[in-house]
Amino acid sequence: MTAKIYLDSHWNVGPIDRRIFGGFLEHLGRAVYEGVYDPASPQADRHGFRRDVIEVLARLRMPCIRYPGGNFVSAYDWTDGIGPKEQRPRRPEFAWRSIETNQFGADEFVQWCRELKTEPMLAVNLGTGTIAAAAELVEYANLPGGTYWADRRRANGHVEPHRIKLWCLGNEMDGPWQAGHVPAAVYAQRALQAARLMKGIDRDIVTVACGSSGRGMPTYLQWDREVLEFCWDAVDFISAHRYSGNREGTAHFLAEGVEIDRILADYQGLLDFVRGLKHSQKRMYLSFDEWNVWYKSQEMDGRWTVAPHLLEEIYNLEDALVCAQYLMSFLRHADLVKIACLAQITNVIAPILTRPDGILIQSIYHPFAMISRLAHGVALQPAIDSPVYKAGSRGEVPQCDAAATLDPETGDIGVFVVNRAVEGELSVELVCADRRLTEIKEGRLLSGPDPKQANTWENPDVVAPTRALARLQDGKLHLRVPGPGFCAVGLGSATR
Ligand code: AHR
Repeated sequence: MTAKIYLDSHWNVGPIDRRIFGGFLEHLGRAVYEGVYDPASPQADRHGFRRDVIEVLARLRMPCIRYPGGNFVSAYDWTDGIGPKEQRPRRPEFAWRSIETNQFGADEFVQWCRELKTEPMLAVNLGTGTIAAAAELVEYANLPGGTYWADRRRANGHVEPHRIKLWCLGNEMDGPWQAGHVPAAVYAQRALQAARLMKGIDRDIVTVACGSSGRGMPTYLQWDREVLEFCWDAVDFISAHRYSGNREGTAHFLAEGVEIDRILADYQGLLDFVRGLKHSQKRMYLSFDEWNVWYKSQEMDGRWTVAPHLLEEIYNLEDALVCAQYLMSFLRHADLVKIACLAQITNVIAPILTRPDGILIQSIYHPFAMISRLAHGVALQPAIDSPVYKAGSRGEVPQCDAAATLDPETGDIGVFVVNRAVEGELSVELVCADRRLTEIKEGRLLSGPDPKQANTWENPDVVAPTRALARLQDGKLHLRVPGPGFCAVGLGSATR
């Protein structure tokens, strides 16, 4: 099977916001405790952060990380997590029926982000919390001093303000499972008031209102419309979440990119609609701040223990190929998606698992690292001429999924291709109409005979990148991508 991809630097979707390579860390299971924070570990630094975790996550080049939830945030009192550690309360944790020791809180998170060289993105509690408490957290984090909460931060050893710019106005407030869940109209009021109060404290922050927690919600898009109509002037982003599952077999699952494109088209339509209604010049963007594959591990009850093993999903090759399609879809919609967060980053539905003696890199780590490394500059809209394959109830779907980027400064081009076929090689021929492809700088391939193969502690490199099957000939890039598989290539280019 052969697919052809045509690029032209004029088919430019817009600049890539690096924040689409964000992550998400929640107080859930072993994500924080035993994940990023483990003072008892031989790997711990002076703050109790695992150095090996920081090193492995750093290779993902995540520019921002969302925290502290997730469902957790909707019953969380942020003041429990500041000040002398021995005075912090142990609390029953509502969302995951666990014990929260509060040994890691906002200050530790910001400190950890600095070590990882990433930007903190904080969510406030708009479930059980008040808008006053949300604004006080902004004061604590961002004001220099001379007021009660800012001085509390200074007294806690953080003289300089944290300068947190990104703020989520609650989490999945459309979901009946959420602490403090309310109808859209009530949430919209809360979000508007919170955003105004928070921006009143620090006018430089940007806010993300809760959109739908999934396309399967009965209020999908209606919730978002109501929130946007009410909060349009006070918020900067609306959020979307999706977790993908293989429920109809691999052929269907590997066409998940079609669904992701569909969701993004839905949101583009909605944002244009509300903008039209408002006669507004403002651009609202999408924060896809929870996305991943998640369907195998459903243990959500922590049985009132500290750091229980919850949602420790094991990822295989097909899961990695779906993750690649999320990022490729975000790139093709670079003018809409300005923030996206892989949910999550350690132990809980995560690209890495920790044990006291080491780290296991899971399959989904690799496409993230490959795309995050090579996607720079602007996103190009590829024209793809692809054979189709039968994807179950999704019908006939293109076998080739592709995305491309161009760094106008350097001429570097990033090309990303998924062969969705369960078996069989895809030959790909790529041309760029207005640029000469000069060299292949690097190329990695993630593939294997069995879509279910996964890395284990005993065999940690079963799903790992190998050299791409790529060559340049007659000014064209020729790729061979065994199915199922993902290929990322970095090219040099020059004007014709
Ligand atoms: O990431 C796990 C959970 O999924 C989050 O807490 C919640 O926001 C979502 O439903």
